[in-house]
Amino acid sequence: MIATVVICFMNGLGFVSWGIIGLVVLFVAVEAVILLYYKNTFQLWALQRPWNLISRLLLPLVEIVDSIGAGNTNNCMITFNQYGKNFCASGEVWMGSFAEVKKSVQNPQGRNFWLGEHPLLPSSLPHGESGRCLFLLSLASKAVGGTGDHEAFRKCVVDTLLSDATVARESDSVAKEIMDSLTADFAKIDSGFDFYNSPVGGNQEFWTKYLHHVMFGLDIKNKEVMDTLNSLFTGDMALMHYLYPFGYVPHFNLHSQIAKVAELYEKSPAFKNFKVKAEYNNMTAKELALLMTSIMRIAGVQGSRMLAWFCTSGVIYGNLRIDAREVWDTIDLSNEDDLKKYVLEVSRLSPPVTVSHRVAMEDFSCEIAGKTYNFPKGTKVAIPLVFANIDQDVWGADVWEFNHKRPGLEKNHAGFNSVDGVGNRECPGKSLVMRTMVRILQDLGKERRKQKASA
Ligand code: HEM
Repeated sequence: MIATVVICFMNGLGFVSWGIIGLVVLFVAVEAVILLYYKNTFQLWALQRPWNLISRLLLPLVEIVDSIGAGNTNNCMITFNQYGKNFCASGEVWMGSFAEVKKSVQNPQGRNFWLGEHPLLPSSLPHGESGRCLFLLSLASKAVGGTGDHEAFRKCVVDTLLSDATVARESDSVAKEIMDSLTADFAKIDSGFDFYNSPVGGNQEFWTKYLHHVMFGLDIKNKEVMDTLNSLFTGDMALMHYLYPFGYVPHFNLHSQIAKVAELYEKSPAFKNFKVKAEYNNMTAKELALLMTSIMRIAGVQGSRMLAWFCTSGVIYGNLRIDAREVWDTIDLSNEDDLKKYVLEVSRLSPPVTVSHRVAMEDFSCEIAGKTYNFPKGTKVAIPLVFANIDQDVWGADVWEFNHKRPGLEKNHAGFNSVDGVGNRECPGKSLVMRTMVRILQDLGKERRKQKASA
């Protein structure tokens, strides 16, 4: 377009150039007004008529800009307070009652290139040698027309990387060393160590080391191994590589780092006995390795880091309105069940993953701010796990209070993409991350109590 404008100016067709510039300015102005004043109402209108020229012209930019902040718990609570459990945002219809979220997570889902509220850049997602997409979260369930890849690849992930060998490594001497150095770093907070943000040591490096040791058996004491892992896992910006349109920006491009990490995975002890099997839809070791780079970066390391931050830092975030450490301090650290409930209650009020998504497989309607609206088949539907966790109809009048002993906490918690343990897209890392969090709370809890006693 810029070239057309310049060529027209150079060839004495200035009126064409000014016409194009005028249209662009008008487009930007209209988009700005929508985003500033009519973000949700415009999306409500446009999502009902996606074929309409105005929707096709104006919705794409609105959904991209809106998706940047829509899923953050603080932001989505603002929209929740304005509209209620259902509304339109990030180019999706959000349906956030507990009943609706439960139905979504417990049933087969159509999927596309979205990550919760974010549009994804397909070329940034892992693809196999044959060109097939390997990203679990973008693969539709077989029961609603998927190829069966989701079920097969997921089984391959679980059998290979969340196996008995993983559980065994959790209690070996290396895992203990990693845990001890986390505790030692935690003890340095008072002397100024940035435990949560430091790229070296602390909460960030802990999860990279711990998960790669227990899941892959990688030699995390080897500097070359750690340098390769850190090139992908340090910091919070790596998600941009996967997002549309940000993944196009060369600064966010991580293809070469991903290739190196995948090579490490493929040579790791966890892959030693890997066999191509029909039940895994003939997934190759290289494909599994590539798939795991995205899972570890997006779900494993990032989600776990956030969960540990919410549980141990005292941060007031989302619906977590107290310094949760005050509750942590009162729990008997040998009571693993209470510690687990503490993690669940923290993540009920401030979940690391707030939104999942699906594609509507048929026309549907829902009530938004007291009125019923109809949406066509193919509409993107956000599944706000965060809202299911605060639905008063299920959690009762004390929904906003922190009470890790509340009845039904484990049963009704939707934060791992399931309800009552039912959901064939439930986070398969749930048990590992919960066991690790309990261990962290025990070790750091002891350190915290020791420091308090000597203060
Ligand atoms: C050990 C660390 C973790 C691992 C290995 C892991 C692994 C995975 C995998 C493989 C999936 C894709 C499942 C599928 O599509 O069938 C997934 C999804 C998911 N995980 Fe995790 N995860 C971890 C930590 C976490 C944490 C800390 C949370 C948040 C509390 C979390 C919440 C979720 C959610 C909500 C989904 C579903 C997302 C969606 O389908 O849109 N995970 N996880």
